[in-house]
Amino acid sequence: MNRRKFVTSSLAAAGCTLLGNAGIAVDTPVSAYQVPGSIPSSAVQQARFPNGFLWGTATAAYQVEGAWNEDGKGESIWDRFAHTVGKVKGGTTGDVACDQYHLYPQDMALTKRLNQKSYRFSVSWPRIQPSGTGVPNVKGIDHYSRLVDAMLENGIRPFCTLYHWDLPQALEDRGGWPNRDLAGYYAEYAGILAKYLGDRITVWAPFNMPWSFTYMGYGVGAFPPGRTNYGDFLKAAHTVALAQAEALRSIKAASSKATVGSAYGMCPAYPKTESEADRAAAARYHAMNNVFFLEAAMHGQYPKAFVGEPPYELMGFKPGDEKLMHAPLDWVGFHYYTRRVVSDASKASSFGGGNFGGTEIEADPAGGRDPYTRFRAVMPTEGPLTESGLEVWPRGIYDLVTQISREYDRPIIEITESGCGYLDGPYEKENGRVPDVRRIEFFRQELAELARAVADGARVRSFHAWSLLDNFEWANGHCERYGLIYVDYRDQKRTIKDSGLWYARVSASNRWDV
Ligand code: FCB
Repeated sequence: MNRRKFVTSSLAAAGCTLLGNAGIAVDTPVSAYQVPGSIPSSAVQQARFPNGFLWGTATAAYQVEGAWNEDGKGESIWDRFAHTVGKVKGGTTGDVACDQYHLYPQDMALTKRLNQKSYRFSVSWPRIQPSGTGVPNVKGIDHYSRLVDAMLENGIRPFCTLYHWDLPQALEDRGGWPNRDLAGYYAEYAGILAKYLGDRITVWAPFNMPWSFTYMGYGVGAFPPGRTNYGDFLKAAHTVALAQAEALRSIKAASSKATVGSAYGMCPAYPKTESEADRAAAARYHAMNNVFFLEAAMHGQYPKAFVGEPPYELMGFKPGDEKLMHAPLDWVGFHYYTRRVVSDASKASSFGGGNFGGTEIEADPAGGRDPYTRFRAVMPTEGPLTESGLEVWPRGIYDLVTQISREYDRPIIEITESGCGYLDGPYEKENGRVPDVRRIEFFRQELAELARAVADGARVRSFHAWSLLDNFEWANGHCERYGLIYVDYRDQKRTIKDSGLWYARVSASNRWDV
């Protein structure tokens, strides 16, 4: 899409009217606007979800909690990173964030008001074990215990992510994820959570986006701890695959009600051309970025992500590790934000790591990403871009869900995250309402594609919108807003956006025409 067309369609998506050009009529109503590749608006409007579908929202500890040094919490790698000048846009930190540590009763009441049935939250490891190992911090446990009770009182299923990127800094000081010992420490932490909360939590996901935090943290340095070493990434990834399985076992040992799944980040990968080489490259992307950890858990092996054999030595792989990382999941959870177009780079002579403009944006250099996977993955810009810079491509969720459903024999699927960043704020002329029509349109079209996947047989049981409320968006700080609820960071006032009101109606009725 050229720039003029992009600007035109962004404005159209924003509900603006303008002189018609690029095929978009004057006064195009928002609902008539169709992203390339998506199904017609009239069909979108008829989308339905089955009774009992679990509508939810998601957040992560560091992004919403604040209270970074209260009640005995230890320092995390994100505390250290955000406190380092120049790492986060605008110098923002998560020290206060949305103050959910204190305001959770209000947030759970709002969650109920939005007719939500599931809340995906994460636990901050350094609140539970301030230095990553040893006896649990009772005040940390008590906090999550109260949070879980607040969910249950409001009729909301607690969905617990054990690790959403905030490693205790003390463990990074001991080598971080490339240090294999972390698998054991992590399993101990998982066992503590299951012991104290497993009477009430039945749905556990060990890691949020394991590829992203290992690659961004150790491979290209976009996230803490900021290392740029491919070998460290591979070692970190292998420790995480071991840790995932060890955690599953320790959670199940501590709680008979527990079910364990995942919260992987996935992007459907489309080959750039129909050539054999590009199709094979897209398959390697899928293996590396989407199912690397899923395959490890389900089958005790790594998928074919590399040209040739996996670099076992560089990974620190030991004989018998196949067995250790084998721990079949009860259900498969993954996020969808956007897609990738992938091409072969097996003949390239230079590789450049990758360029990350946000948590979901990735553009490999012309040569390709690295000499092992030998592909080049790029986020296309054919669809309109959100204000966070991600291509809107509703059809992607249909392709991804049906692909995973096919490849893993129709597992139960939880969509653990999906959403869009737009900066809409309260509008004075509408009594302070937040008319974020682009977000409504994003979810309307995307969820219609998800409904289509369900109608075609995928066993999707939940959808978690990212996010319940605007929050600390990692290295982009407060420059991005993904919430269904607007947060004024000056006084922590929450305002439900129009998208939140729309999502509440859909959640209550499983239909669009409400
Ligand atoms: C995902 C992360 C989540 C949030 C969204 C926008 O990659 O899991 O924490 O940053 O992107």
